[in-house]
Amino acid sequence: MIGNRAMDESAVINWHEVERIIQSYHADRMSLLMILQDICDLYNYLPRPVVPLVAERLEVKESLIYSVATFYKSISLEPRGKYIISVCTGTACHVRGADKVMETIEDKLHIKEGQSTDDLLFTLQAVRCLGCCASGPVVMVDKEIHGGIDRSRAEKLLEQYKGEGR
Ligand code: FES
Repeated sequence: MIGNRAMDESAVINWHEVERIIQSYHADRMSLLMILQDICDLYNYLPRPVVPLVAERLEVKESLIYSVATFYKSISLEPRGKYIISVCTGTACHVRGADKVMETIEDKLHIKEGQSTDDLLFTLQAVRCLGCCASGPVVMVDKEIHGGIDRSRAEKLLEQYKGEGR
């Protein structure tokens, strides 16, 4: 699992592209959230080395950027997998066995909730009610909802996305 940032994040940053994103919003500090979101879309997370550049261009403090990044769940400061697996742990899904689904996925991916696989194919997270309680237990992979998930279907789901991710 990805714990500490072992890789050199700076090496993978396309500075030209980050600059293009900033300038597409005219380096307007009022667009900070959108700029951070666009950079996240590019890398699936917000690499810390871009923070000083964004701060300089928008003339804001780095601490403001970190505050925004930690406030919004859609922005992560940690590398995230290509596929975000969200296991619903809301009440309806919980009583139908969401904990077993989570356990199965953790076992199969050798990670715990909140972590990402070493190959950055998957990030696993728990979420509260995805709004389709009648289909529980529910798992969302990126924006795709999968209902009626049990241990066996959870394993098949992982195999399906592993196949697509290769
Ligand atoms: S509790 Fe899981 S979708 Fe509502």
